Amino acid sequence: METKEDSPENRKKPQFGTRYLKEPAQVFQHNAWDDVEWNDELKQNAEEKIKLNSQTLVSAEDQEKYENEANQFWDKFYNIHENRFFKDRHWLFTEFPDLSIDSTPQVKEKTNILEVGCGVGNTVFPILETNVGSNVFVYCCDFSEVAVSLVKNNSLFDSERCHAFVCDISSDVWNVPFEENTLDFIILVFVLSAIHPEKMQFTINRLAKYLKPGGQILFRDYGKYDMVELRFKPGRCLSEHFYVRGDGTRVYFFSEDDVHNLFTSAGLVKTQLYSSKRLQVNRGKQLKMYRIWIQAKYMKPLKNC
Ligand SMILES: C[S@@+](CC[C@H](N)C(=O)[O-])C[C@H]1O[C@@H](n2cnc3c(N)ncnc32)[C@H](O)[C@@H]1O
Repeated sequence: METKEDSPENRKKPQFGTRYLKEPAQVFQHNAWDDVEWNDELKQNAEEKIKLNSQTLVSAEDQEKYENEANQFWDKFYNIHENRFFKDRHWLFTEFPDLSIDSTPQVKEKTNILEVGCGVGNTVFPILETNVGSNVFVYCCDFSEVAVSLVKNNSLFDSERCHAFVCDISSDVWNVPFEENTLDFIILVFVLSAIHPEKMQFTINRLAKYLKPGGQILFRDYGKYDMVELRFKPGRCLSEHFYVRGDGTRVYFFSEDDVHNLFTSAGLVKTQLYSSKRLQVNRGKQLKMYRIWIQAKYMKPLKNC
């Protein structure tokens, strides 16, 4: 798994603002550069690495184990790291300003938010803190019982404003404390990548039913060719762009097309879709790390109500 420091989802805040690399010779003068375009050589190297990785697939028996025991691998992860691994996603409000909800008294209607795969609450608690005084209710779920109990035991947890529950969002069994057509936002941050690609469409179709007409799914996750994908060694590949880490947790790397097809097939409409490309630099070691994340917002059309 990527280290705490270099993990994109662990960025505490957008630390560097927007900085563009115009002069390649200056690359080691700053820690990160935005919107870095990939040249043919980089793309070719990435393709070759991925081709090499996918030549040896994990055995069918082990694949079944990683699928059937997925929540237990995440339980182990949280038993080891508790809430020390991921940092609060304060960047959420820069990337998704929709999540700062209007707190003026005129706004009476409640905003219902669901975070899926909430982990230990690194998204939930910033949302609760940012929206003090607004009429916001946050539901959050994870299939790791350990993660959900860490959320509930956090001193910032407030049962008047938040409901945390254990739920496998890819499972046929689905018990949720809200009705269809009631959610304003569903947040999917680095969670869909942990689900088997064959279960993704089913999962998104069902989530879409719970959005209000006009409600949106907010998505951010790993992009194909991200440094984390290229760092996998042969023998960790489950299927194309899908890998298992040493601790048994899995990760998929998305293309924009993957994301678009998943959400539009569920009847949602694109409001935003782009690849965020960042070059992170280890100035001490003179290392260049090319990061790619896919960010998207998809809305349930109003006329489907
Ligand atoms: C990479 S972590 C991200 C956690 C959180 N979204 C964040 O940004 O801090 C992925 C999370 O998804 C959860 N997860 C994976 N598959 C899931 C599933 N089928 N149903 C519910 N949660 C799942 C894992 O337990 C883990 O907490």
